[in-house]
Amino acid sequence: MTKQDNAKKLAGEASLTHVENGMTIGLGSGSTVYWMMRKLGEHIKEGLNVKGIASSRQTETWAAEFGVPLTNFHETQHIDVAIDGADEVDEAWNLIKGGGGALVREKVIADAAEKFVVIADESKLVSRLGDFHLPVEILPFGWEVTAERIAHLGGRTVLRKRDGEAFVSDNGNYIVDCDFGIITDAEKLHKQLKLLTGVVETGLFINMADEVIAGYADKAKSLKR
Ligand code: A5P
Repeated sequence: MTKQDNAKKLAGEASLTHVENGMTIGLGSGSTVYWMMRKLGEHIKEGLNVKGIASSRQTETWAAEFGVPLTNFHETQHIDVAIDGADEVDEAWNLIKGGGGALVREKVIADAAEKFVVIADESKLVSRLGDFHLPVEILPFGWEVTAERIAHLGGRTVLRKRDGEAFVSDNGNYIVDCDFGIITDAEKLHKQLKLLTGVVETGLFINMADEVIAGYADKAKSLKR
Protein backbone atom coordinates (compact mmCIF):
# COMPACT_ATOMS: atom_id res chain seq x y z
CA MET A 1 0.00 0.00 0.00
CA THR A 2 1.33 3.49 -0.80
CA LYS A 3 1.86 6.03 1.98
CA GLN A 4 -1.06 8.04 0.63
CA ASP A 5 -3.37 5.01 0.66
CA ASN A 6 -2.34 4.32 4.22
CA ALA A 7 -3.08 7.93 5.14
CA LYS A 8 -6.53 7.61 3.58
CA LYS A 9 -7.12 4.36 5.45
CA LEU A 10 -6.09 5.86 8.79
CA ALA A 11 -8.28 8.94 8.31
CA GLY A 12 -11.24 6.85 7.14
CA GLU A 13 -11.03 4.42 10.04
CA ALA A 14 -10.52 7.19 12.63
CA SER A 15 -13.83 8.77 11.60
CA LEU A 16 -15.72 5.79 12.98
CA THR A 17 -15.32 7.14 16.53
CA HIS A 18 -18.30 9.32 15.54
CA VAL A 19 -20.50 6.32 14.78
CA GLU A 20 -22.75 4.87 17.48
CA ASN A 21 -25.41 2.21 17.67
CA GLY A 22 -28.71 3.18 16.08
CA MET A 23 -27.29 5.97 13.94
CA THR A 24 -28.04 6.78 10.32
CA ILE A 25 -24.77 7.53 8.55
CA GLY A 26 -24.30 9.63 5.43
CA LEU A 27 -21.85 7.70 3.28
CA GLY A 28 -19.72 9.89 1.03
CA SER A 29 -17.80 8.77 -2.04
CA GLY A 30 -14.23 8.19 -3.05
CA SER A 31 -11.19 6.17 -2.08
CA THR A 32 -10.94 7.52 1.51
CA VAL A 33 -14.59 6.65 2.12
CA TYR A 34 -13.81 3.16 0.83
CA TRP A 35 -11.57 2.51 3.85
CA MET A 36 -14.13 3.93 6.26
CA MET A 37 -16.81 1.64 4.81
CA ARG A 38 -14.59 -1.42 4.93
CA LYS A 39 -14.00 -0.89 8.65
CA LEU A 40 -17.66 0.01 9.22
CA GLY A 41 -18.58 -3.34 7.68
CA GLU A 42 -16.33 -5.08 10.21
CA HIS A 43 -17.99 -3.24 13.11
CA ILE A 44 -21.42 -4.22 11.75
CA LYS A 45 -20.38 -7.88 11.62
CA GLU A 46 -19.37 -7.53 15.27
CA GLY A 47 -22.87 -6.27 16.16
CA LEU A 48 -23.00 -2.54 15.45
CA ASN A 49 -26.50 -1.58 14.32
CA VAL A 50 -26.46 1.33 11.87
CA LYS A 51 -27.83 2.22 8.47
CA GLY A 52 -26.28 4.31 5.73
CA ILE A 53 -27.48 6.63 2.99
CA ALA A 54 -25.18 6.34 -0.01
CA SER A 55 -24.06 9.34 -2.06
CA SER A 56 -23.21 7.37 -5.22
CA ARG A 57 -23.74 4.12 -7.07
CA GLN A 58 -20.13 3.23 -6.29
CA THR A 59 -20.79 3.67 -2.58
CA GLU A 60 -23.94 1.52 -2.89
CA THR A 61 -21.76 -1.21 -4.39
CA TRP A 62 -19.28 -0.99 -1.50
CA ALA A 63 -22.16 -1.06 1.00
CA ALA A 64 -23.33 -4.34 -0.53
CA GLU A 65 -19.78 -5.69 -0.55
CA PHE A 66 -19.06 -4.83 3.09
CA GLY A 67 -22.53 -5.58 4.48
CA VAL A 68 -23.54 -2.02 5.35
CA PRO A 69 -27.36 -1.85 5.31
CA LEU A 70 -28.74 1.10 3.37
CA THR A 71 -31.73 3.30 3.89
CA ASN A 72 -32.91 6.33 1.92
CA PHE A 73 -34.57 9.71 2.28
CA HIS A 74 -38.06 8.20 1.84
CA GLU A 75 -37.54 6.27 5.05
CA THR A 76 -35.75 8.93 7.06
CA GLN A 77 -34.75 12.54 6.64
CA HIS A 78 -32.45 12.43 9.63
CA ILE A 79 -28.74 11.73 9.26
CA ASP A 80 -26.73 11.67 12.48
CA VAL A 81 -23.33 11.98 10.90
CA ALA A 82 -22.09 12.24 7.31
CA ILE A 83 -18.54 11.13 6.57
CA ASP A 84 -16.94 12.10 3.27
CA GLY A 85 -13.65 12.81 1.55
CA ALA A 86 -12.54 16.00 -0.17
CA ASP A 87 -10.30 17.12 -2.98
CA GLU A 88 -9.14 20.25 -1.15
CA VAL A 89 -9.62 21.51 2.41
CA ASP A 90 -8.56 25.06 3.25
CA GLU A 91 -7.68 26.52 6.64
CA ALA A 92 -11.29 27.61 7.26
CA TRP A 93 -12.39 24.07 6.36
CA ASN A 94 -14.05 25.14 3.14
CA LEU A 95 -13.83 22.35 0.62
CA ILE A 96 -13.61 21.52 -3.03
CA LYS A 97 -15.36 18.23 -3.77
CA GLY A 98 -16.58 16.40 -6.81
CA GLY A 99 -13.42 14.85 -8.17
CA GLY A 100 -15.34 11.59 -8.30
CA GLY A 101 -18.41 13.26 -9.77
CA ALA A 102 -20.75 12.69 -6.81
CA LEU A 103 -20.85 16.26 -5.51
CA VAL A 104 -24.61 16.88 -5.65
CA ARG A 105 -25.67 13.86 -3.61
CA GLU A 106 -22.70 14.39 -1.31
CA LYS A 107 -23.87 17.92 -0.63
CA VAL A 108 -27.51 16.92 -0.07
CA ILE A 109 -26.33 14.35 2.46
CA ALA A 110 -23.86 16.69 4.21
CA ASP A 111 -26.57 19.33 4.39
CA ALA A 112 -29.07 16.92 5.95
CA ALA A 113 -26.58 15.65 8.52
CA GLU A 114 -26.37 16.83 12.10
CA LYS A 115 -22.60 16.50 11.87
CA PHE A 116 -20.35 16.50 8.79
CA VAL A 117 -16.96 14.84 9.23
CA VAL A 118 -14.37 15.25 6.46
CA ILE A 119 -11.67 12.63 6.00
CA ALA A 120 -8.70 13.63 3.89
CA ASP A 121 -5.09 12.58 3.48
CA GLU A 122 -2.61 15.39 4.09
CA SER A 123 -2.16 16.10 0.36
CA LYS A 124 -5.67 17.63 0.38
CA LEU A 125 -4.82 20.30 2.97
CA VAL A 126 -4.22 23.67 1.30
CA SER A 127 -3.97 27.27 2.42
CA ARG A 128 -6.28 28.45 -0.40
CA LEU A 129 -8.67 26.59 -2.66
CA GLY A 130 -8.27 26.43 -6.42
CA ASP A 131 -5.31 24.32 -7.47
CA PHE A 132 -7.80 21.51 -7.90
CA HIS A 133 -10.12 22.54 -10.71
CA LEU A 134 -13.60 23.17 -9.38
CA PRO A 135 -16.19 20.57 -10.47
CA VAL A 136 -19.56 22.10 -11.34
CA GLU A 137 -22.51 19.88 -12.21
CA ILE A 138 -24.62 21.27 -15.05
CA LEU A 139 -27.62 20.21 -17.10
CA PRO A 140 -26.73 18.43 -20.35
CA PHE A 141 -29.35 20.54 -22.11
CA GLY A 142 -27.56 23.65 -23.35
CA TRP A 143 -24.38 22.74 -21.51
CA GLU A 144 -22.39 24.72 -24.08
CA VAL A 145 -24.23 27.91 -23.04
CA THR A 146 -23.78 27.18 -19.34
CA ALA A 147 -20.06 26.50 -19.80
CA GLU A 148 -19.75 29.80 -21.65
CA ARG A 149 -21.50 31.65 -18.80
CA ILE A 150 -19.14 30.04 -16.30
CA ALA A 151 -16.21 31.13 -18.44
CA HIS A 152 -17.56 34.71 -18.24
CA LEU A 153 -17.13 34.53 -14.48
CA GLY A 154 -13.42 34.04 -15.09
CA GLY A 155 -13.04 30.27 -15.19
CA ARG A 156 -11.51 28.08 -17.86
CA THR A 157 -13.95 25.21 -18.27
CA VAL A 158 -13.38 21.70 -19.52
CA LEU A 159 -16.26 19.27 -20.00
CA ARG A 160 -15.39 16.13 -18.04
CA LYS A 161 -15.06 13.09 -20.28
CA ARG A 162 -14.81 9.37 -19.71
CA ASP A 163 -13.73 7.03 -22.51
CA GLY A 164 -14.02 9.90 -24.97
CA GLU A 165 -17.66 10.61 -24.09
CA ALA A 166 -19.13 13.24 -21.77
CA PHE A 167 -19.04 11.94 -18.19
CA VAL A 168 -22.61 11.51 -16.91
CA SER A 169 -23.22 11.86 -13.16
CA ASP A 170 -25.52 9.56 -11.17
CA ASN A 171 -28.12 12.33 -11.64
CA GLY A 172 -27.83 12.21 -15.43
CA ASN A 173 -25.95 15.51 -15.63
CA TYR A 174 -22.61 16.71 -16.98
CA ILE A 175 -19.66 18.07 -15.04
CA VAL A 176 -17.38 20.89 -16.07
CA ASP A 177 -14.03 21.18 -14.32
CA CYS A 178 -13.27 24.87 -13.90
CA ASP A 179 -9.95 26.57 -13.40
CA PHE A 180 -10.53 29.84 -11.56
CA GLY A 181 -6.95 30.04 -10.33
CA ILE A 182 -6.66 30.58 -6.60
CA ILE A 183 -10.18 31.21 -5.30
CA THR A 184 -10.07 34.29 -3.07
CA ASP A 185 -13.79 34.49 -2.24
CA ALA A 186 -15.25 31.00 -2.37
CA GLU A 187 -18.68 32.01 -1.10
CA LYS A 188 -19.08 34.74 -3.71
CA LEU A 189 -17.99 32.41 -6.50
CA HIS A 190 -20.36 29.69 -5.32
CA LYS A 191 -23.28 32.15 -5.29
CA GLN A 192 -22.42 33.53 -8.73
CA LEU A 193 -22.30 30.03 -10.17
CA LYS A 194 -25.56 28.99 -8.53
CA LEU A 195 -27.34 31.92 -10.20
CA LEU A 196 -26.58 30.51 -13.65
CA THR A 197 -29.64 28.71 -14.98
CA GLY A 198 -27.98 25.51 -16.16
CA VAL A 199 -25.90 25.02 -13.02
CA VAL A 200 -27.16 22.27 -10.73
CA GLU A 201 -24.53 22.53 -7.98
CA THR A 202 -20.93 23.47 -7.38
CA GLY A 203 -18.21 21.49 -5.66
CA LEU A 204 -17.60 24.33 -3.18
CA PHE A 205 -18.68 23.21 0.29
CA ILE A 206 -18.61 26.39 2.34
CA ASN A 207 -18.99 26.38 6.13
CA MET A 208 -20.29 22.84 6.11
CA ALA A 209 -17.54 20.76 7.74
CA ASP A 210 -17.82 20.25 11.51
CA GLU A 211 -14.64 18.24 11.82
CA VAL A 212 -11.68 17.43 9.59
CA ILE A 213 -9.68 14.27 10.19
CA ALA A 214 -6.38 14.41 8.34
CA GLY A 215 -4.54 11.24 7.45
CA TYR A 216 -0.74 11.00 7.47
CA ALA A 217 1.50 8.04 6.62
CA ASP A 218 1.53 6.86 10.24
CA LYS A 219 -1.40 8.55 12.00
CA ALA A 220 -4.73 10.30 11.73
CA LYS A 221 -5.34 13.59 13.48
CA SER A 222 -8.45 15.64 14.12
CA LEU A 223 -7.55 19.17 13.02
CA LYS A 224 -7.99 22.34 15.09
CA ARG A 225 -9.35 25.40 13.37
C1 A5P B 1 -16.37 12.54 -4.96
O1 A5P B 1 -17.23 13.22 -5.80
C2 A5P B 1 -15.46 13.49 -4.26
O2 A5P B 1 -16.07 14.58 -3.70
C3 A5P B 1 -14.58 12.77 -3.24
O3 A5P B 1 -15.07 12.91 -1.96
C4 A5P B 1 -13.24 13.37 -3.35
O4 A5P B 1 -12.89 13.32 -4.71
C5 A5P B 1 -12.22 12.65 -2.50
O5 A5P B 1 -11.85 11.47 -3.08
P1 A5P B 1 -10.70 10.56 -2.55
O6 A5P B 1 -11.06 10.14 -1.16
O7 A5P B 1 -10.70 9.40 -3.51
O8 A5P B 1 -9.42 11.33 -2.60
